[in-house]
Amino acid sequence: MRLALTIPFLAITAMAKCAVIDGGSQPPATVPPSSTAYWFDQPIDHFGLNNGTWQQQYMFNATFYKPGGPIYILTPGEAAIGTYYTDKTYFTNLAEQTDGLVVAVEHRFYGQSNPMPDLSGPSLKYHTIENTLEDFAAFIRIAKSDPDNVFPVAVSPNSKVVFGGVSYAASISAWMRATYPNIVDGAWASSPLIQYRYENYWLDQSWGKHLAALGCAIEMAQAVNELDEVMFSGNQTAIDDIQARFGSPQLASRDFAALISAIITINAKAGVSTDFEPTQYTVCDFFDSSRSNLDSYALAVSTLIDWLGLSQQALTQMADTTLGLDNYALGQVARVWYYQSCAWYGDWQVAAPASTGLPVYRSRLVDLEYYTPNCKNKFGNHMLDRVDSEGFHNKWFSILQNVSKIYYTAGSLDLWRASSATPREGTLLPNTTLSPTYLIDGATHAQDISAPSEYDLDSVQQARDIGNALVRQWIL
Ligand SMILES: *[C@@H]1O[C@H](CO)[C@@H](O)[C@H](O)[C@H]1NC(C)=O
Ligand SMILES: *[C@@H]1O[C@H](CO)[C@@H](O)[C@H](O)[C@H]1NC(C)=O
Ligand SMILES: *[C@@H]1O[C@H](CO)[C@@H](O)[C@H](O)[C@H]1NC(C)=O
Ligand SMILES: *[C@@H]1O[C@H](CO)[C@@H](O)[C@H](O)[C@H]1NC(C)=O
Ligand SMILES: *[C@@H]1O[C@H](CO)[C@@H](O)[C@H](O)[C@H]1NC(C)=O
Repeated sequence: MRLALTIPFLAITAMAKCAVIDGGSQPPATVPPSSTAYWFDQPIDHFGLNNGTWQQQYMFNATFYKPGGPIYILTPGEAAIGTYYTDKTYFTNLAEQTDGLVVAVEHRFYGQSNPMPDLSGPSLKYHTIENTLEDFAAFIRIAKSDPDNVFPVAVSPNSKVVFGGVSYAASISAWMRATYPNIVDGAWASSPLIQYRYENYWLDQSWGKHLAALGCAIEMAQAVNELDEVMFSGNQTAIDDIQARFGSPQLASRDFAALISAIITINAKAGVSTDFEPTQYTVCDFFDSSRSNLDSYALAVSTLIDWLGLSQQALTQMADTTLGLDNYALGQVARVWYYQSCAWYGDWQVAAPASTGLPVYRSRLVDLEYYTPNCKNKFGNHMLDRVDSEGFHNKWFSILQNVSKIYYTAGSLDLWRASSATPREGTLLPNTTLSPTYLIDGATHAQDISAPSEYDLDSVQQARDIGNALVRQWIL
């Protein structure tokens, strides 16, 4: 039994702590271990607003590299780099098959790649997508023109470069190929977010589709309706009683509603394999006709809290988006990610408003009012009342039109499917042989990028085979 517990964005801080660099197995003496951290000088702002410099962290695995081989560049996006990215993804398998070098480069403002001494609103002014892409481009230009400058092993100049990533980092991969086609020869975008909306209630709808595939969507929607009857009743005794039954500390109603939806979906990103369905095991298996749907929901959440060993204090922290409004310390993944929502694209993960007529799988208390007041409170009054999600989407979706050599994937049960290149039947971008989209039947988020396993769904292996063949064309 492999219970892969992933961390939702609400509680993403926990993830940063996992990025401890470990030694790994002993490579040949001439190849430095992939756990060694290297640093690359970057300007704070590539467009002249601040000429100070900072150091961007990267790591690489040269075990399989042979002169003339390609460079596979990955970024984790909103997480710290570590040997997982150099050694443990499918890109390492690709490197082994194609004599390639795997390089993991950290994204500005995440991990230890800090352009500024803190995460205040004024410091985060330099956290733009344009700067982020230009950071990676600056690294690639040197890696191609003067590899000795960035690698202590002999790497051929003018190597082919394939960019890869999952989720938000998959969007970055696609944008890198679209923005810098002369230095990025191809991009593998696994479950990219390419449709950005102000209110992302489609994430909740995609989760409902996953539950429907397992046969418990109606029960879950009913449980949420029963819950909301209490939460909106104004009867504080009943509300307190419900919170206790879910194993939650007593919280403000919105915080409680957001907390339990974060916990119940905690495994929705975990991979489905031939021997294990995490959402079946942690959600649907709890619905039982001997009790009310609300009681089943409460039991599922309280059991997960137990399995995860989450203390009441940890739960309070997970729930409270106003926590640490004035804490500008480095190393807060959730704060930087929050800034992206406030300043770039919105994409707030809310329940569908009643006006849409859609079912909901999270409480209607999880609405814009839960998230958006924090933008000014965390980052300052200069933040917009309403971020221009449409403007962001139009710009970054348009640049993907007519771009060749991007491979888009998404799982049919992907939590982010509605934001992906294949949001429903068919595709959002033209599905051409130059930049194909592949829907991975029965899979969740970004399963194609993990290293192959004997428990993989056939569709996941198929997605890798298609990508493998494309990469070989790109690096010719
Ligand atoms: C940064 O350097 C450029 C080029 O020398 C210059 O035009 C610009 O004014 C400088 N910016 C700042 C904020 O000093
Ligand atoms: C590169 O990754 C492979 C596969 O995980 C691993 O066996 C090897 O030790 C790594 N190389 C280095 C230099 O750490
Ligand atoms: C409030 O809820 C409690 C517990 O469910 C219940 O006993 C009580 O009758 C309710 N009060 C009102 C005014 O409905
Ligand atoms: C894409 O290319 C086709 C064929 O060259 C052209 O007709 C179309 O206008 C292009 N679309 C965009 C958005 O550039
Ligand atoms: C894209 O086109 C290919 C080739 O025709 C097809 O196999 C694939 O299923 C299409 N993808 C989607 C998501 O429709």
